[in-house]
Amino acid sequence: MVESDHKYIGSGKCVMCHTKAKGDQGGIWKTSKHAKAFEALAGDEAKAIAARRGIADPQKAAECLKCHTTGAGLPAERFEPSFKPEQGVQCEACHGPGSDYKSTETMKSREDSVEAGLILPDEKTCVACHNPESPSYQPFEFKTYWEKIAHPARK
Ligand code: HEC
Ligand code: HEC
Ligand code: HEC
Ligand code: HEC
Repeated sequence: MVESDHKYIGSGKCVMCHTKAKGDQGGIWKTSKHAKAFEALAGDEAKAIAARRGIADPQKAAECLKCHTTGAGLPAERFEPSFKPEQGVQCEACHGPGSDYKSTETMKSREDSVEAGLILPDEKTCVACHNPESPSYQPFEFKTYWEKIAHPARK
């Protein structure tokens, strides 16, 4: 199986299993800025940034969507109908597209999940978006940023 076979299913699917009983990864994500990253592109600050660059609508501009959504720019066949781009920076932006690892049977084995496309992200994953190409870049320090969104599993 090659990477490009995996499809994006959307955070809604992950959240159904990753509930309070497992450590509430879904709830932690929903209250994070990542879940609101697409919404933020409709705000006044986004419009001001966009205007300076000659962009009319940041929610339609590839140069903003690439970091404020998930899987931006990929062909339509890489997304299942359950995927909602307006949910911003979703689980799969960091963990990889989930169509082939989402079953309980696969997820119970880390080895099988990784084989089916699961990524266990690290600092490099973050820096793909948290870099000076961002018009509102804030110096990124992995440890402090990670603490703000940490979502450890409940063993
Ligand atoms: C059908 C239920 C189900 C769905 C849907 C699901 N998971 Fe899981 N996930 C599990 C189970 C079960 C585990 C095993 C660990 C546990 O019990 O908490 C797990 C483990 C994980 C782990 C930890 C892997 C490890 O070895 O440390 C990650 C990361 C993860 N899931 C991410 C996701 C993402 C992202 C999605 C959506 C694309 C998703 N999961 C969808 C049930 C699910
Ligand atoms: C290279 C990735 C990247 C690109 C491209 C990018 N952004 Fe962002 N944006 C970020 C990151 C990361 C942050 C969070 C700020 C930080 O902590 O560094 C952010 C934050 C923002 C914020 C602040 C939101 C808030 O909650 O206060 C706005 C507004 C914004 N971006 C608008 C835009 C617009 C408009 C574009 C397109 C012209 C754009 N961004 C392009 C990565 C990016
Ligand atoms: C901004 C990137 C990012 C997003 C978004 C994200 N995660 Fe994670 N996730 C990580 C990182 C980094 C780790 C730590 C990996 C490690 O410990 O090796 C992690 C770890 C996990 C773990 C394993 C925790 C453990 O202690 O073993 C689970 C389960 C998980 N994430 C599920 C999810 C789910 C479900 C979502 C969406 C609701 C999600 N994540 C969204 C970056 C992210
Ligand atoms: C797909 C692009 C993308 C990736 C990958 C990503 N981020 Fe983000 N991140 C963003 C954007 C965009 C924002 C700003 C959202 C907003 O404010 O509306 C943001 C905001 C944040 C914030 C909130 C900052 C604040 O001002 O409070 C934290 C914390 C954060 N990210 C941590 C991480 C960590 C840690 C990782 C890696 C494990 C990561 N991010 C990976 C795009 C990304």
